[in-house]
Amino acid sequence: MAVQRAKRQAELTDAKQAPLDYENAENSLRPTSLHEYIGQTRLKRHLMVHIQAACTRKEPLGHTLLHGPPGLGKTTLAYIIAQEMRAQIRITSGPVIEKPGDLASLLTSLQKGDVLFVDEIHRLRPHLEEVLYGAMEDSVLDIMIGKGPSARPVRLQLQPFTLVGATTKAGAMSAPLRDRFLHHFKLGFYELPEVRQIINRSARILEVRIENQATHLLAQASRATPRIANRLVRAVRDFALVQKQDVVTISCVKDALQSLEIDDEGLDATDRALLRVLVTDFNGNPVGLSTLAAILAEEQGTIEDVYEPYLIQQGFIQRTPKGRIATRKAYEKIGMVGS
Ligand code: ADE
Repeated sequence: MAVQRAKRQAELTDAKQAPLDYENAENSLRPTSLHEYIGQTRLKRHLMVHIQAACTRKEPLGHTLLHGPPGLGKTTLAYIIAQEMRAQIRITSGPVIEKPGDLASLLTSLQKGDVLFVDEIHRLRPHLEEVLYGAMEDSVLDIMIGKGPSARPVRLQLQPFTLVGATTKAGAMSAPLRDRFLHHFKLGFYELPEVRQIINRSARILEVRIENQATHLLAQASRATPRIANRLVRAVRDFALVQKQDVVTISCVKDALQSLEIDDEGLDATDRALLRVLVTDFNGNPVGLSTLAAILAEEQGTIEDVYEPYLIQQGFIQRTPKGRIATRKAYEKIGMVGS
């Protein structure tokens, strides 16, 4: 029984801590303090105040919700919060937690001040949210022990902890859950100079030399997103190695981007296909998400969370009540005359 419980605990957390190679690779480039973290200036300033205040009061940081498109640094910030609070972090994600017992086993394993990071918290099953409420508000866990007529409610006292929730869709969370987070932080896309700084930092860590102009081109192609910037740094490092160059040059970056089908504004083949559907196939008329997803053979969630935020931020498309529409910039991008 104890062995089974330990195994389930590992599935709920460690599976996310020692996962795919790419995520381990990503870990090596993560900044470990707010001081090292580039960009999100206002967010950092506020977070620093709350962390310092919590440390002074010798209390855990209030529950914190991080919201924004993928790859902007929500997980990195969760690690940093734990580090700055001198606390341990347990990492899990909404869809991995299946039943109240899973959540109970996670919560009861927390020590005083620990950070529980729940990625994709908007995908937490609704009946589990209610278990979380007591834990978040009063550090108690109300569960039923036993089955059938002999089932009885039990209240367990938990150690005070900080829940850090991350979501790409704050709107998909229930209001009661959202309202139980004391701090709400929205991560936005990064400015070009910030992406350049991130690329230079990663290049230093990976011991790659990159020419200034090459860094600039890489930054432009990074979709204002650190995760993509770091992937591109690794890609160009391989190109330079194979081409036997000890410095990444602009031509090296151009080769890499061409082979990845990424253009100089960071759009990839799917982005361009999406724009072509709006401009050419639908002639500028609004297109619903499900139609777009079917034509592009992508999941609706991927289009909404991964592709659209950057296309909207860059002004290529707009979301209207009737569907997605292409802007003039989209027509220019795919070589059609303006709308
Ligand atoms: N690597 C990924 N995100 C970063 C950030 N915001 N600052 C520094 N390095 C990063």
